[in-house]
Amino acid sequence: MIALPRIIAHRGESALAPENTLAAIQLAATGGASWIEVDVNISSDNIPYLHHDDGLERCTNGDGYLVSRSSEYLDTLDAGSWKDPVYAGEPLPTLSATIAVLKHYGLGLNLEIKPTAGWEKPTTKAICDVIKAEWPAELPLLISSFSPEALGHAQTGLPDVARGYLVSAIPPDWREKSAALDCVSVHCSQELLTAEKAADIKNEGLSLLCFTVNDSERAKTLFSWGVDSVFTDIPTDMQAALG
Ligand code: G3P
Ligand code: MG
Repeated sequence: MIALPRIIAHRGESALAPENTLAAIQLAATGGASWIEVDVNISSDNIPYLHHDDGLERCTNGDGYLVSRSSEYLDTLDAGSWKDPVYAGEPLPTLSATIAVLKHYGLGLNLEIKPTAGWEKPTTKAICDVIKAEWPAELPLLISSFSPEALGHAQTGLPDVARGYLVSAIPPDWREKSAALDCVSVHCSQELLTAEKAADIKNEGLSLLCFTVNDSERAKTLFSWGVDSVFTDIPTDMQAALG
């Protein structure tokens, strides 16, 4: 079983800094976070970048699908101004640049593979290649995805890296699905979790992680149900509130 912290910074300190950027990771780290969650997709030339959406419009000054854009184009983008002018010029980070920052701060990572539909295999392969070459063995790593196909490719490409079965609502066949992918954890929306379902998952010997929890009282309730970790946009404040 993987050792998990109670709090995982969701896309970094994403309430205050632009999500999925090095600035957001650094802010979470300096605020005391020990683990970060990020979303990872690939460029048209197979370079993994941190990004949540298929399209570049919401979180950068670029446009089009990330998967259709070259790294040469992506490296020119401003991924910070949309959040706050103070972050103007913040780059869209590669997974490689992110690993360097995580290593600097000694942070654990939940890497969420976020493939554009149809691109599960090349996306996962490119991510596995970077992880194999650059991930520091001493740091904890947990790979998750809403895409069972991507998780299956991760199982093949990185069999020794822990996998998390990621869903919004826990489906009736969660046991079979998570077992087929040899997952160590279930990640689900906190809004749809019940105490009974949490107990079922914990009794199966799986870790349980919930997104996105920005209310400390809700976090306490979830922990009382056996939830191991919450993903939060406010890791520094959440840490302070939970003590
Ligand atoms: O991995 C947990 C959570 O990040 C999943 O939802 O949409 O925020 O990537 P989303
Ligand atoms: Mg995510």
